[in-house]
Amino acid sequence: MYRNVHESKLVAHVNSSSSLSEAYRTLRTNIMFSGIDDPVRTIMLTSASPGEGKTTTVANLAVTFAHEGKKTLLVDADLRKPSVHIMFKKSNRSGLTDALFKENPWQEIVHETEIEHLHLLTAGIIPPNPSEILSSRRMSELVEEWRVHYDVILFDTPPLLAVADGMILSALCDGVILVIKSGKTKFTSARKVLSQLEFAKARVLGTVLNNKKRSKDSGYHYGYGQ
Ligand SMILES: Nc1ncnc2c1ncn2[C@@H]1O[C@H](COP(=O)(O)OP(=O)(O)O)[C@@H](O)[C@H]1O
Ligand SMILES: [Mg+2]
Repeated sequence: MYRNVHESKLVAHVNSSSSLSEAYRTLRTNIMFSGIDDPVRTIMLTSASPGEGKTTTVANLAVTFAHEGKKTLLVDADLRKPSVHIMFKKSNRSGLTDALFKENPWQEIVHETEIEHLHLLTAGIIPPNPSEILSSRRMSELVEEWRVHYDVILFDTPPLLAVADGMILSALCDGVILVIKSGKTKFTSARKVLSQLEFAKARVLGTVLNNKKRSKDSGYHYGYGQ
């Protein structure tokens, strides 16, 4: 039934009773409660460097919101190294960049997924100038349109310290979640990310501690906190 999704990485879908899935649900609940007066609807995941778990976390978080019945759009805004389509085994022939250049209406480009309530907009063709097109008026118009159609819009992004794209996207998001990889992310890098986001007046909702090995099992868990 779920043969089209990457079974080992979309754990929130294929093994929703696991402790990792429970951690994703806790993250979702915390996000929902962090904005009672000012609901958080557009959220981006960021981290200092590549390989820290942004894509894995955002994909599972999107699944978790969809399981809750929220109409969810997952957008691959990592126009440097797109990978969300690989996790969901979808074609990336057209995607965000096509929607930005109005090649097609975004409604025609968005993928439905095997998961009810979850839609996916892959990155599309890699452009030569990602920062520029992400800061375009068209991009903010698209986000406004998505807000009409979806309850939650989640963005995957490239590493924040490497390129300006994450900072640009943070201005379009109600909230930002920082992924930190245990044993890899340097304290100084995480601090740098937080101070850049603070400078941009982004609302940092919390951090996810990825890859933390637990003594009792060989798995991983996600921590959450301010
Ligand atoms: N909690 C985890 N447990 C095991 N492997 C993980 C976990 N988080 C990420 N990975 C793996 O680490 C690699 C990098 O993760 P990814 O989500 O692509 O990071 P990023 O998007 O930050 O570059 C991937 O191969 C992914 O499957
Ligand atoms: Mg990634």
